[in-house]
Amino acid sequence: MSRDEFSGFFGVLVATVGSAVGLGNLWRFPYLVGQNGGAAFILIYLAFVLIICLPIAISEFIIGRKTRANTVRAFQILAPKTAWSGIGIVGVLAAFSILAFYTVVGGWTLDYLVRSVIHIFAKPDISALESQFTTMVTSPVRPIVWTVVFMVVCALIVMCGIKKGIEKYSRIMMPFLFLMIVILMVRSVTLPGASEGISFLIKPDFSKINTSVVLAALGQAFFSLSLGMGCLITYGSYVPNKENLTKLSFTTALSDTLFAMLAGLAIMPAVFAFGISPQEGPGLVFIVLPRIFAQIPMGNVFAVMFFVILLIAAITSVISLLEVVTAYVTEKLKLKRTVAVAGITVIVTVFASLSSLSQGVLKNVTVFGKSIFDFFDYLSANILLPLGGLSIVIFVGWYMKKSLVYQEFTNQGTLKGTLFRTYYFIIRYIAPVAIAIVFIDLILR
Ligand code: TRP
Repeated sequence: MSRDEFSGFFGVLVATVGSAVGLGNLWRFPYLVGQNGGAAFILIYLAFVLIICLPIAISEFIIGRKTRANTVRAFQILAPKTAWSGIGIVGVLAAFSILAFYTVVGGWTLDYLVRSVIHIFAKPDISALESQFTTMVTSPVRPIVWTVVFMVVCALIVMCGIKKGIEKYSRIMMPFLFLMIVILMVRSVTLPGASEGISFLIKPDFSKINTSVVLAALGQAFFSLSLGMGCLITYGSYVPNKENLTKLSFTTALSDTLFAMLAGLAIMPAVFAFGISPQEGPGLVFIVLPRIFAQIPMGNVFAVMFFVILLIAAITSVISLLEVVTAYVTEKLKLKRTVAVAGITVIVTVFASLSSLSQGVLKNVTVFGKSIFDFFDYLSANILLPLGGLSIVIFVGWYMKKSLVYQEFTNQGTLKGTLFRTYYFIIRYIAPVAIAIVFIDLILR
């Protein structure tokens, strides 16, 4: 049986952008911007995306398409009988680790979507909304049920395969997602008092910049572009040979960044217009936004729209994480896709239930001094991704034969490859040093 493939440039692009655009853009980015000085943080973030992350994305695609295999086997093919395939194994573990908390937030999103449809938000008062949120996330059964529902939806999509599953649903959902975030953005920037929020996003205040802000920007760029754990290696293995990997990576990075900006513009002006602190942190979307929606005309419509956006963004990211594990399990154990996905779903549900319970009844159970939920978050974003990213650039820059990399970069010599020298220089020298600095700092923190 021939291996499944994306149908063409647009097909790969919607799937990859779907993976990249997620809770990282809608929830993490705005609150990091809020805490780290607004526009100055954004400028640094942009520089990292362009200089460091873009070349890493290209590298992951090169590994994947060259080998047409799952992320573990890809390294076994390129570096037989070496320890390099450990990068793939760590990637698969990272997928489980991200899924274990990400799907829980997916469950919360479903809960809030239903609430916004049937109008059951607490009175527009921050403390009531806060306790409503806390009651929901700490209860033992309810968030787990939602998490399972969320997981099942994602699993069903992945079961349908690449072209008929991931690509097909991304094609439907992603354009809709961009349309809705634009509408929400327009609503937000036209609120009376929005200008303060806008200037927060475009007027840099460099006095807020210090090393930890710089490092937060690099970490966020990694997470947001789905780098460092073989996600793009896996997607790359389904990219047709004629597609230009540089163009694909560039368009993905651009769309993801654009979406993050739109999300910032949709959220920050509203936050400022209602006199709420931009430093609210992780509770921003679940506590602060419902308050804003409660106070604007047709707020309920916008609330539903916002949680639909959050839901779609989360689904298209989770399917990419599931696919990393699915490709590995189906190819390694020669299982049918449906069976593999079902098995993986059960395992993820167990971990996700633990991290959901750690918000409430299991609050006192700690792993390395963190709740289970925070542990999975920390382990993946702060340890496994930087480690994976670092290994990948060293692998492509120093282990793989340069000619092999060049061949794949230029589609076997059919593209000009003008940017190859710049790309190769970054991969060999700049990216490894930059990531090593971030990694060490995050560990020490
Ligand atoms: N990029 C997604 C977001 O911004 C999350 C995500 C999906 C991810 N796949 C990944 C992060 C792989 C790291 C690695 O929400």
